[in-house]
Amino acid sequence: MSLAINNNSEKYSIEEFVGKFSFNEFVLKLLKFIESDNKKVKDLIIKKYSQIPISEEEEEEVLEYFINNSVFSAATVANPATSVVTEFLYGEPKAPLPIDQYFFTSKGGKAIKSRLVRVEENFHTLAETYLKRGDVLIGNLGGGPGRDTIDVFSKYYSDNKNITAVNVDKDKNAIKRGKRIADAVGVLNKIEFSENNFMKYNPREKFDIIILVGVLCSLPIETCILVLKKAQRMLVKGGCIMASNVLPKMLKDDPFTYFIMEKITNWKLVFKEEDTLKDIFIKAGLKWQRSFTDDYGFHCVGIGTKKLFFL
Ligand SMILES: C[S@@+](CC[C@H](N)C(=O)[O-])C[C@H]1O[C@@H](n2cnc3c(N)ncnc32)[C@H](O)[C@@H]1O
Repeated sequence: MSLAINNNSEKYSIEEFVGKFSFNEFVLKLLKFIESDNKKVKDLIIKKYSQIPISEEEEEEVLEYFINNSVFSAATVANPATSVVTEFLYGEPKAPLPIDQYFFTSKGGKAIKSRLVRVEENFHTLAETYLKRGDVLIGNLGGGPGRDTIDVFSKYYSDNKNITAVNVDKDKNAIKRGKRIADAVGVLNKIEFSENNFMKYNPREKFDIIILVGVLCSLPIETCILVLKKAQRMLVKGGCIMASNVLPKMLKDDPFTYFIMEKITNWKLVFKEEDTLKDIFIKAGLKWQRSFTDDYGFHCVGIGTKKLFFL
């Protein structure tokens, strides 16, 4: 959707812009703050959203503004898939920068936090089911510092010798951070932290449960199938994979946040409906079991099992 406008966005007040696109009060507050700080950047953002071309210099001015004024944006520009961004949204600093405050209050930001809560609940449920069959080994692939695993282990399993995990991530800083967080809550002895590309990783022992959260979202369908095929080979028969992907509802319900992510900080997502995620599981050779979402319905988390027999 674009504003039916000439080349002069300045005739549109923030209120008109927000009203035209039915944006919420958080977008209004964000643009008001930017206007008070740098009116030109506010005008350029409105132009850009309205699909009025701006020059390369102006694009750079907007990008520089976001990098200089938002931790979230600077981290995203440095590496769109970094766990620094997800970790940032999981917490909330006491006095975030005004632009970061926007991300914390946006539905997109809140959905990430809610996804963590729902993933941890389902992680616990799956772990309980598999513990009934014997010892359980979890593989958290692209786990970042392994926040979900650390939370679930410290909450339920710190004294349970029957469940352990390997957290695999190619980012050495995420691995270092995870070790520190796990140590602080007394579960470092239960989680091995492995700095590795999971596409080349060969576990010593096959996993009972594999978790892939926030990993498939930026990947095209064919690549997701390859990732799940690789993960599937690391599973015991009857083991399961829990993998998330962002749903098109995020784009529909929070277009301004995604506009900043995609058009300003260059974080492109490949939105997939539940049926597409299900198809990815099936094409990877898994049996689709069920799915759940975060409270905003922005992320679908699918669960599939490795078949006992190949027919
Ligand atoms: C958005 S973060 C999500 C972290 C964590 N799973 C969570 O839900 O908070 C994605 C993580 O996947 C990791 N990653 C992506 N591709 C990877 C690969 N091929 N091997 C290992 N790690 C990978 C990145 O380094 C990053 O830490």
